[in-house]
Amino acid sequence: MALKITVIGTGYLGATHAAAMAEIGFEVLGLDIDPAKIEMLADGRVPMYEPGLEDLLRKHVAGIEGSTGRLRFTTSWEEAGDFGDVHFVCVNTPQKQGEYGCDMSFVDAAFGALAPHLRRPCLVVGKSTVPVGSAERLSRLLAERSPAGADVELAWNPEFLREGFAVQDTLRPDRIVVGVESERAEKVLREVYEVPVGEGAPFVVTDFPTAELVKTAANSFLATKISFINAMAEVCEAAGGDVARLAEAIGYDERIGAKFLRAGIGFGGGCLPKDIRAFMARAGELGADQALTFLREIDSINMRRRGQMVGMAREALGDGTFLGKRVAVLGAAFKPDSDDVRDSPALNVAGQIHLQGGQVTVYDPKAMDNARRVFPTLAYADSALEAVRGADVVLHLTEWREFRELDPEELGGVAGARVILDGRNALDAELWRSAGWTFRAMGRPRA
Ligand code: UDX
Repeated sequence: MALKITVIGTGYLGATHAAAMAEIGFEVLGLDIDPAKIEMLADGRVPMYEPGLEDLLRKHVAGIEGSTGRLRFTTSWEEAGDFGDVHFVCVNTPQKQGEYGCDMSFVDAAFGALAPHLRRPCLVVGKSTVPVGSAERLSRLLAERSPAGADVELAWNPEFLREGFAVQDTLRPDRIVVGVESERAEKVLREVYEVPVGEGAPFVVTDFPTAELVKTAANSFLATKISFINAMAEVCEAAGGDVARLAEAIGYDERIGAKFLRAGIGFGGGCLPKDIRAFMARAGELGADQALTFLREIDSINMRRRGQMVGMAREALGDGTFLGKRVAVLGAAFKPDSDDVRDSPALNVAGQIHLQGGQVTVYDPKAMDNARRVFPTLAYADSALEAVRGADVVLHLTEWREFRELDPEELGGVAGARVILDGRNALDAELWRSAGWTFRAMGRPRA
């Protein structure tokens, strides 16, 4: 009989995972403690912007016309405990307030609430990004608190999906990593992932600590790549070099690889910044802090870039002050194809300029509501053209396709001054310059 799957936590990761599991063919029950979220999902609506996710959901959510009916949602732990042969835990693990460590309260609460309802043999699979050592602790919790006791097993299966590509990354992952303590757990997970593995995804079996570490190591490596190229951008700025050509040239070396070498205002979002900090904090607890001191530098290069963008904007204004100046900011999301503004470099730069007295107007294709919520004192426009109207300087801070397709002539017609700074190295410098704009990009020659 086919396995039945529950997905605990229907945020970014959980909603995508639940829909993907239904797409593969499983009966799926999604649980969240937020009834409003469950109501939306049960209606086939997604609480965030993620390309393709709503369509996938609507294809499977029970009660929607023409759907397979394989996907349902609940707020009942009892129902979830009864339903699942495999329970994926997908709750978030944010940074702790005021410190670097990882806030495990949602994970602990989810395991604590689920365990008393596990009355038959099943596999609980952690997907959240957690400090190494958590799986071992949570496996003891399950054994102690589940009525089925030792028949409830734990596995750790980190998730590597990127926002904006969540559906594609979940259905066709680069690799599947499972931390297991028994052959039975491995067998169950091989069954769950039979389809992507059949399509060529490598299936890597490890112990608990390695599986937990794979995720934080991968994100640390990605963060390191970005901060490395941003450090090179700083040197290029000092020496008069061009970091985009440098990145292209080193990227042809397959050992280095061309991806994640785009210099600019750096990384943000709900994962990379908090994951490297939590990793440092955990290494400290384990007495291995020396191994990760370089991550402090990665973090500090990253944060410095935001200030450097502010400095570039101030300089571009000529008289060294934002007072009385209009600044148009294109982009608020931490990256394109997402409405997520968590730790967004774009919004941070906009905020800094606002706090220094500039009149900032922001436009983003999808993240306006979220941006307004976290930064209500900024001005917001309904289009790029409106944001740029009367601006003394334009900052391009999130590389949406819409911005790459802007017409410099049209924007020049409404801008106060034709000055644009590319904080993402994504615009066509020649195109803007030929329309009479002063164009500057981070880590690249002036003209
Ligand atoms: C990341 C990991 O990529 C993913 O595997 C993990 O599961 C979650 O964290 P995500 O946060 O969605 O995914 O974004 P990602 O595409 O990795 O970008 C992170 C940040 O780095 C963005 O702010 C992006 O703008 C920035 N970035 C990325 C650069 O500044 N330069 C680059 O070359 C690439």
